[in-house]
Amino acid sequence: MQKRESVNQQFLGLLDSVAAHLHSLKEEGASSIVADPETVRRLGSAPIMPAPPPRKEPARQQDHGGTGGSLKDIAAQVAGCTKCPLHKTRTRTVPGQGSATPEIMFIGEGPGYDEDQQGLAFVGRAGQLLTKIIEAMGLTRDEVFIGNIVKCRPPENRKPLPDEMSACLPYLRAQIEQLKPKLIVALGATAVQGLLQIETVGITKLRGQWMSYQGIDLMPTFHPAYLLRNPPAKREVWEDMKAVLAKLGKTPPKRG
Ligand code: URA
Repeated sequence: MQKRESVNQQFLGLLDSVAAHLHSLKEEGASSIVADPETVRRLGSAPIMPAPPPRKEPARQQDHGGTGGSLKDIAAQVAGCTKCPLHKTRTRTVPGQGSATPEIMFIGEGPGYDEDQQGLAFVGRAGQLLTKIIEAMGLTRDEVFIGNIVKCRPPENRKPLPDEMSACLPYLRAQIEQLKPKLIVALGATAVQGLLQIETVGITKLRGQWMSYQGIDLMPTFHPAYLLRNPPAKREVWEDMKAVLAKLGKTPPKRG
């Protein structure tokens, strides 16, 4: 009697596994399986088990090395960050700011003097030019998100070092995952290199050509600080911004 019960249990366990396997095949998109007639005949005479409940897959989240949560959480983690030497010389951290549901995310290199003083991204001279670009696109700063590769000012506004960028990248990645922008505009070669973790050719060659970050279209263009030094390059940035708007099915407003 005991032996029979154990055989039954083995059988039921086996059937359970088969049912679970068929269920997962179905979830993966299979609409049929190949089975020989004898197997089908035997299955037909087996007790019918209720289908197992669908397996609950944990929500797929990227691993940002312990970084993540809401935008506020990320900003709080940035505020307490000591992962690279830039924390020693910063006045304030600059997590970035703007819409929590932006279509476009602008990413620069790192805070300068004004940003370090105010804790806000792109508020100095380059930032004012970025504001003009955003407004010429028919948008406001509040409708987009503006951030940087590194969240603390590099001394003397030098380019962030590779280790500093790598240490800070999990925050940016977590922000992008939260914000889910339709498009990213990378301002300058450092933004492209820092985000994609690649060596790139110069921004002059890169700009205007669509790239991709985790399936999100990314447009590299000149940094506004470069435009301050080289105003004729504004024309090319404007071409890039028109391409960005076109991707979103928009056109810039007519200038009055
Ligand atoms: N330059 C940047 O790259 N980021 C800022 O926030 C300001 C200037």
